[in-house]
Amino acid sequence: MYVVNDAAHQNPLQTRGRPSISTAPCSCSGPFARKPRLFYGGHPPPADQREPCTMALVNRTEPFDFVIFGATGDLTRRKLLPAFLRRFHAREFDQEARIICTARSELTTEQFRNLCSATLHEFAPDIAKDTETLNQFLSLLTYVYLDATEDGPHWQELSATLSDAERTRVFYFATAPALYSAICAGLSQHNLITQHTRVVLEKPIGTDLQSANEINEGVGRYFSEDAIYRIDHYLGKEGVQNILALRFANPALEQLWSSEAIAHVQITAAETVGVGDRGSYYDKSGALRDMVQNHLLQVLCMVAMDAPASLRADDLRNEKLKVLNALRPMTPDMVRKNVIRGQYTAGRVKGEDVPGYVEDLKTGRPSDTETFVAIRTKIRTARWGNTPFYLRTGKRLATKTTEIVIQFRPQVWPIFTNMPSPGRLVIRIAPHEELSLVLAARDPGAGGFRVRNATLHMSYENEFAVQYQDSYERLLLDAVRGDPALFIRRDEVEASWKWVEPILDSWRYALTPLEPYPAGSWGPATTRALLARDGALWHEDMLT
Ligand code: BG6
Repeated sequence: MYVVNDAAHQNPLQTRGRPSISTAPCSCSGPFARKPRLFYGGHPPPADQREPCTMALVNRTEPFDFVIFGATGDLTRRKLLPAFLRRFHAREFDQEARIICTARSELTTEQFRNLCSATLHEFAPDIAKDTETLNQFLSLLTYVYLDATEDGPHWQELSATLSDAERTRVFYFATAPALYSAICAGLSQHNLITQHTRVVLEKPIGTDLQSANEINEGVGRYFSEDAIYRIDHYLGKEGVQNILALRFANPALEQLWSSEAIAHVQITAAETVGVGDRGSYYDKSGALRDMVQNHLLQVLCMVAMDAPASLRADDLRNEKLKVLNALRPMTPDMVRKNVIRGQYTAGRVKGEDVPGYVEDLKTGRPSDTETFVAIRTKIRTARWGNTPFYLRTGKRLATKTTEIVIQFRPQVWPIFTNMPSPGRLVIRIAPHEELSLVLAARDPGAGGFRVRNATLHMSYENEFAVQYQDSYERLLLDAVRGDPALFIRRDEVEASWKWVEPILDSWRYALTPLEPYPAGSWGPATTRALLARDGALWHEDMLT
């Protein structure tokens, strides 16, 4: 724990003492099992009566076949293969594993491995420089040319590369979602779906409720719900999972976790990057579909849900679903008053001049797509009814940060004349995982009784040996091991779209103007007003 000044976190003075927490280990090993667990009403149950943990355990996995559709795409290059290489290097699986990569480019396995070698040097250079490990890993890769929309001999080729039906088989769809159903049909027609098969679906699961249902039904014709793993990489982030530990392993904190003590909650995912070369996807999507419908709502669920009965997948998902269903539905009038949408124009980010969104698109046409969205909402439950939740995300903002700010209420009857702003807890997920608790303290300066804010600060990097560089590392192996806790159930997807769709509908009828904001800023100027009416400030404004 560190004690530092409120506004700046430089020069923390480290003290090694950790708070002592009474813990009762659950009956299995692994990172979640080691974390303290919360038992209400005094004593923990005896070991033989404890629920088993179901969150993925960091064990060596059994040999598996992992088949990637869309293997020449950006996601495979930047995320999937580097994540596998890192876990291979950590010896979480061995050379009996098979990673079978398919795509519509006519490549041989050797050509594909050469491409991967270059990719891995770019995206996992620290490990790829170890030639022996890299070559061992590349030898696990097989490439099969396959157009999933066509029947043909390539399906037999894929079939021939797979091991026997007893082995765990994971099909990972990193293609356009419009192809998911066709790929499933091909897998079924060629008898590639075994009892030990799971399918991982990348986002976006639809662009609205109807298209999401079509995708889910298309895949659901061939796979049962418990074999479908819908990935949201935010759930694989250590900082997001730690919300569970923070809340449900610290009873004192959980006592404060309601409208009684919490004035508002802000969830921000700010990026400095623009749309880069993803313009053709992004322009059809926009920030609401790309970030809010999935990542931000999942984070909101982790912050707002009640304690699940256990860490079992369905217990967690049931609690998240309750939050999604309790979100106040958006009427057109509420959208007008509670949602800001913006688009970046040219500006300066991190000292460099950058073009606006329309120039980034390179289509020569104006665009009505939002690259920024801020939303004020409420959760209709006894716990949260009186606390606004603010969600905000955007591209080309001032800094890269993903964080949750829990703003505590002010003192009801202040006895100090110079009270600083009320305390807050900041859970930072990116760029570094950190916790900061801002508390009022007596300023030891001479004369009078002055109070000012000071910060207790914890950095994960310093406190724990950091294990995962990227959330995909954890999630890929969770899918292999058959642990769905950090994947999204179909009803969660539907509930998210049900809440998001009225906002999209309102926008379609142009009820919310698209406001320009200069790259490098914190979004449209009106974003401040969204909080000002609750007497609140965005986090960056609290710090100035
Ligand atoms: C992806 C979005 O899901 O998340 C991207 O499609 C976005 O547009 C990315 O940049 C952000 O992820 P992270 O982990 O960098 O916050």
